[in-house]
Amino acid sequence: MEKMLLQLMVSVVLLGQFGGYAMDNLKVAFQWKQVDFEFPSEDARNASIEKGEFVQQNNLPLGLEVHGDRLFITVPRWKSGVAASLTYIKLSDSMDSPKLRPYPNWEAHKLPQTPGSDPPEIVSPFRVRADQCGRLWVLDTGVADLLGDTQVYSPASLLVYDLHNDALLRRYQIPKEQVKEDSFLANIAVEDEICDDAYAYLGDLGKAGLIVYSWKKGSSWRVSHNFFNMDPLAGDFNISGINFQWQDALFGLALSGAGRDGFSTLYFHPMTSTHEFSVSTKYLREDSLSSSYHNYKVLGSRGPNAQSSVSFLDKNTGVLFYALPNLNAIACWRTTTPAYTMQSQGRVFMSNLSMVFPNDIKVDAKGSLWVLSDRLPTFMYSRLDENDINFRILTATVADAILGTACDDKLVVPGPGSNKSTVVITPRSSASTFPSALPLLLVTLALFFLH
Ligand SMILES: *[C@@H]1O[C@H](CO)[C@@H](O)[C@H](O)[C@H]1NC(C)=O
Ligand SMILES: *[C@@H]1O[C@H](CO)[C@@H](O)[C@H](O)[C@H]1NC(C)=O
Ligand SMILES: *[C@@H]1O[C@H](CO)[C@@H](O)[C@H](O)[C@H]1NC(C)=O
Ligand SMILES: *[C@@H]1O[C@H](CO)[C@@H](O)[C@H](O)[C@H]1NC(C)=O
Repeated sequence: MEKMLLQLMVSVVLLGQFGGYAMDNLKVAFQWKQVDFEFPSEDARNASIEKGEFVQQNNLPLGLEVHGDRLFITVPRWKSGVAASLTYIKLSDSMDSPKLRPYPNWEAHKLPQTPGSDPPEIVSPFRVRADQCGRLWVLDTGVADLLGDTQVYSPASLLVYDLHNDALLRRYQIPKEQVKEDSFLANIAVEDEICDDAYAYLGDLGKAGLIVYSWKKGSSWRVSHNFFNMDPLAGDFNISGINFQWQDALFGLALSGAGRDGFSTLYFHPMTSTHEFSVSTKYLREDSLSSSYHNYKVLGSRGPNAQSSVSFLDKNTGVLFYALPNLNAIACWRTTTPAYTMQSQGRVFMSNLSMVFPNDIKVDAKGSLWVLSDRLPTFMYSRLDENDINFRILTATVADAILGTACDDKLVVPGPGSNKSTVVITPRSSASTFPSALPLLLVTLALFFLH
């Protein structure tokens, strides 16, 4: 009981201090009970169902990206019967629950009848990234039916499409020696400041590591660091009543714009961890610099239950957005803030209904934040209710998303040792800190007393 009270007090401090007051401004743009695909005809759809190529309840949207009028959605092959694992909808789609269209076409997703035959162009990507040069980078795991009869169709590969005509520009297989026994590549960040000298950073969550791919060299190398590893004390998750333990290592990867030296900063964290780290890409762009250990920085902690999965940095504002699956929340931190503390982080959105397992975050070229939430733990360990809304895509402009939070530029939060007399706190934010933390407090109370 004493321990529980202590934990509770820690949480109250965390909540009271989680900077500013969130407006929970994100709005649902699209939502689905179950996803369906735009098949060529009803006949074709029926035939796919008959052959087991389409099992509707096994299709779970996971990654997202926005480019022009298209919103890309990945549907990884967790189970059998995924009709197409990379799809898109149109932002102009007027329907609430539009059908997914295969990208670039149906043919690219056709699994062979017999294993061992030629794999399809795309097997099972988790996340994709559209760069500012009009290219779509697709990180394909090559593995299907992860939760069932797992089939390896091809080695993990990086596919790059030209978004102007959807032609496949390049296919690059990650070399065998860079992939370890437990490797799993599910996250990608692209440093695209110079189009013909772009770099892709691929996070290995299975065997802690980072694979760096140079567009110019057409080759990759593997980087290791202790900070890529999971924290054994942070592996316990409780999400929508399901308790499970994960070991995921390097996961969140977010790149700043180029600094004065021409290099970006990579902000990163393992999923099984509550800490944030950073490193200049100067130390990644060359094949494993052994002397670079001390150039990696520990930024700080997000506090109890604040493990984080995906993250994304908005270059216009310098605000880092990240998902907090254990708290059903999206939070933010302004990278120009001197310290990464609980006080300097803001809560963007939190809901135990519409933000259960936020699974991807992007900011598009027009300055809108996009978040996909998909109740993954229920899909993996239990069963989704087909009559309930399970998948959502939420959006807001970055300005609206951070309004009134600690990431709002009208609010400067002191770092340790900074001179408080220079700090500006807008009256609205300081006056509203506590009431805004109340829902978070209630959820945390529930977390402590439900069990
Ligand atoms: C497809 O299947 C549905 C449900 O079984 C059926 O009602 C429909 O008539 C079928 N459509 C075609 C074109 O066969
Ligand atoms: C998760 O729930 C279990 C009981 O189901 C509890 O023992 C555990 O402390 C909880 N973990 C966290 C991190 O809250
Ligand atoms: C969500 O939180 C509210 C209170 O904040 C609670 O009443 C409700 O039961 C929770 N729902 C779930 C699915 O946890
Ligand atoms: C803080 O700023 C004030 C006013 O600019 C100055 O007088 C004071 O010495 C500063 N204190 C510290 C600790 O830097």
